[in-house]
Amino acid sequence: MGKTRIGLIGLGFMGSTHFRIYREMENAEIVALADVDPVKRRGDISSVIGNIGNADNSVPLDLTGVHVYESAYDLINDPDVDVVDICVPTENHAPYILAALAAGKHVHSEKPLCRTPEEAAAIRAAVAQAPGFFSVGLCVRYWPEYDYLHDEFKKGSFGKLLSATFRRLSPSIDGNNWENWFMDGKRSGGALLDMHTHDTDFICYLLGVPKAVTSIGRTILSSNQGIDHVITFYHYGDGTVVEAEGCWGAPKTTPFEMTFQVICEKATIRLMAEGFKVYWTDGRVESPEVEATTGWHRELKYFVECVQKGVKPDHYQTIDSVYQSFLITQAEQQSIDNGSVRTEVKQA
Ligand SMILES: NC(=O)c1ccc[n+]([C@@H]2O[C@H](COP(=O)([O-])OP(=O)(O)OC[C@H]3O[C@@H](n4cnc5c(N)ncnc54)[C@H](O)[C@@H]3O)[C@@H](O)[C@H]2O)c1
Repeated sequence: MGKTRIGLIGLGFMGSTHFRIYREMENAEIVALADVDPVKRRGDISSVIGNIGNADNSVPLDLTGVHVYESAYDLINDPDVDVVDICVPTENHAPYILAALAAGKHVHSEKPLCRTPEEAAAIRAAVAQAPGFFSVGLCVRYWPEYDYLHDEFKKGSFGKLLSATFRRLSPSIDGNNWENWFMDGKRSGGALLDMHTHDTDFICYLLGVPKAVTSIGRTILSSNQGIDHVITFYHYGDGTVVEAEGCWGAPKTTPFEMTFQVICEKATIRLMAEGFKVYWTDGRVESPEVEATTGWHRELKYFVECVQKGVKPDHYQTIDSVYQSFLITQAEQQSIDNGSVRTEVKQA
């Protein structure tokens, strides 16, 4: 089979990250790009800033052989495109996902799934009917240390869960992005829907659907009530303490942190300042060897392999599981809106 032909929509932080990853892959090629910004359409990404893995963006991307569009819909209707990869602000995920699925394309779209519950339900229904495959960039499920934790926990290696804590703390990204859209709660959903979603999603992937959540949150920098700092307790009703914190409210000079500590009966697993370690209850301390790569590389590699083989990409995620974690984020927002009350989670 020939290379899988990718059409990339949006060439900001995630789009340029995906661009470089596809360029390294032997079984994929970028054939089309769409961006509303004429500067990006020339491959100039010098204004792009992200939180981790920042590459040298002063060098323009080479768009030789890439069909460049202003309108995402023109790219979606390009017959040469097999996979539409959506890396635009969250408010445009749903319209582009729905159009690309309707056009019969395979679709990989960045997280969060979309902006509103109505859009999420429409995407779920469309994916069920569509011939194309669908996945969302919930890269933490694919991130080597998190994937290891997930697989070993599910095998029972660590025994019963006692407590878990997850953190995602970012320096402020105010002013870093296209139209500063992240800082508009209406467009991005704030750090709660945008960033903390990774940990909420992973907790659901690891431990199943919580019965309820209690969240506290506050707005620090965002407009339109975007929550810049959130802490959520996930209630499983079994005595476990499960908690996650997400924040993008600190000064720009602070480092980015993504960490966890998971205490189980037989071991405590930590991704922290000391590295990735398993502290066995019997005294042994191990540093598990995991692939030295990112979840972004693994998610795109996996999706392209599935497209090449014609096998549904359901090892790491299904639309139902993605929809479910979206519903948990909605319960978190509702909890905050109602004064941090315990809020039942809707089952997908
Ligand atoms: N998985 C992750 O770890 C991760 C990290 C950062 C961002 N994201 C997600 O990726 C998506 C993009 O975020 P980003 O950081 O790349 O943002 P960004 O602001 O850096 O880039 C957005 C790009 O989209 C373009 N654009 C805007 N509206 C468009 C439209 N209607 N059609 C075509 N192009 C359009 C802009 O010109 C810009 O080039 C968001 O959904 C975000 O939540 C995911």
